Amino acid sequence: MNKELFNDELFNRVLDKAKSVKKYQIGYPINEGFDLKEFYEWYDEHNLSDVFLNNVGDPNNEKSVNFGTLYVERKIIRTIAPIYGFDENEVWGLMTESGSDGNNHGIYYGRNYLESITKKKPILYVSSESHYSNKRLAELQQIEVKLIPTDELGKMIPEEFRKALDSTRPALVVFSMGTTFKGGIDDMQTIKKIVEEVNPPAAYYHVDAALFGGYLAFSDYSNEVNKKICGYDSISVSGHKFFGCDEPCGLFFTTKEIIDYQNPNNVPYLIGSVPTILCSRSAISPLKIYYTLKRYGVEGLRKQVKQMFENVVYLKNKLDEIGWPSWISCKESNIVFFKKIDDALMKKYFLARATDDRFGGELGHIVVMQGVTKEIIDEFIADIKENCLKG
Ligand SMILES: Cc1ncc(COP(=O)(O)O)c(C=O)c1O
Repeated sequence: MNKELFNDELFNRVLDKAKSVKKYQIGYPINEGFDLKEFYEWYDEHNLSDVFLNNVGDPNNEKSVNFGTLYVERKIIRTIAPIYGFDENEVWGLMTESGSDGNNHGIYYGRNYLESITKKKPILYVSSESHYSNKRLAELQQIEVKLIPTDELGKMIPEEFRKALDSTRPALVVFSMGTTFKGGIDDMQTIKKIVEEVNPPAAYYHVDAALFGGYLAFSDYSNEVNKKICGYDSISVSGHKFFGCDEPCGLFFTTKEIIDYQNPNNVPYLIGSVPTILCSRSAISPLKIYYTLKRYGVEGLRKQVKQMFENVVYLKNKLDEIGWPSWISCKESNIVFFKKIDDALMKKYFLARATDDRFGGELGHIVVMQGVTKEIIDEFIADIKENCLKG
C-alpha cells in the first residue's frame, strides 16, 4: 500500500471519526452491529478491486445485458420477496440506491399506473410526519400532495384522511411503516376501508418501510409487511439500516402487473426494456446483502430482531426507573423517544431532535439497532442521572 498517499488530512479525519463515534451513534438507524471484514477479505483476495461492475438494466429480466451482478440481485429478490408475501411468479423487484430511491419508484409507478387506467391525475396522500423524501419526490414528479395530520404517536388520523380524500381523482397513498422520528405506523386497513367507502376512480398503495420493513419481516409481526395480508402495491426498505450494508442501498418490490402499466422504455443498447428510474446502479451492494443473508440466514436475522426488541424494553424500563419521560409509538417500534436531554449528551449520543408540544416541547430519540447494547444503554442512563437529574 502506498502509505504516503493515505497520510492525508482528510483520510486521517475519516479514521479519527470512525473510531471515536462508532459506539455512540444511537440516535439514527445505523446498524453498528454489522461487520463486512470477511466480505472485503474475499474481495481483496480475488483482486476484484480493478473489475468494473455496474448493475445497469432490469434484474428481473434474465436477458438483460450484464456488466455487474444482476444475477445476484435477482437471487436476493427471489429469496426475500416471498418473506414480504410476494409470489415468485408475480414479483418485480429491484435493489435500489436507498429507501428514498425505493419511494421514488413506488410513487412513479403508482402515478403511471393510476393515470394509465383512469386518464386522470392522481393526488398523493401522505402523513405530515412521513419522511421528507415523499414530499420532495411528489414535488419532483409534479404530483399534487395532501398532507394528512397525525395523532400524537405519528399515525395518520383516519378522519382527517377521509376529509382530504377526493372522490373524483385517483388516490396514490403512501403509508409510513415507521415514521422517522416517533416510529408511528399508519393504519393501512382503516385507510383502505375509507378509500373503498369514498370510492375514488382508482387507488395505489405504496409502503415506505425504510427502517421497520427490514426488521419486521424477521419478527413476530411479519404479517404487517406481508403484501398478501396488507394488500399494498409496492414497498421500499433501506438496505443500510437493518441489513447493515455499509453503503446506501435498498429493496423495492412491486408486481409484474404494475410494471406492465409502465412505459416499457425499450433501450436497444441495453437489450430490452429498462423500467428502473436510474441507469447505473451499484453492483457491489447486492454482493454485500447476499453475503449478509448467507452469513446470518433467516434464523440469524430473527435472533437479531429479538435482541433489538429486548433492548427496546430494557431502555424504556431504565428511563422509567429514573423517571425520565419517554414513549414508544407502538409495539412494533424500535424507537424510544423522550424529553430532550442535556445538549452535551444530545451531541455525545448523536441524538436526532424534534419538537412536539403534545409531549411538552423538545424531544430526542434512540433508534435501538443491533449495535445499541445494554452496556451503552447503561452508560446513557448513568449520564442522564449525572447531568440531567441533579437537584
Ligand atoms: C420512514 C423513512 N423513509 C425513508 C427514509 C429514507 O431512507 P434512505 O436514507 O434509505 O433514503 C428514512 C430515513 O431514515 C425513513 O425514516
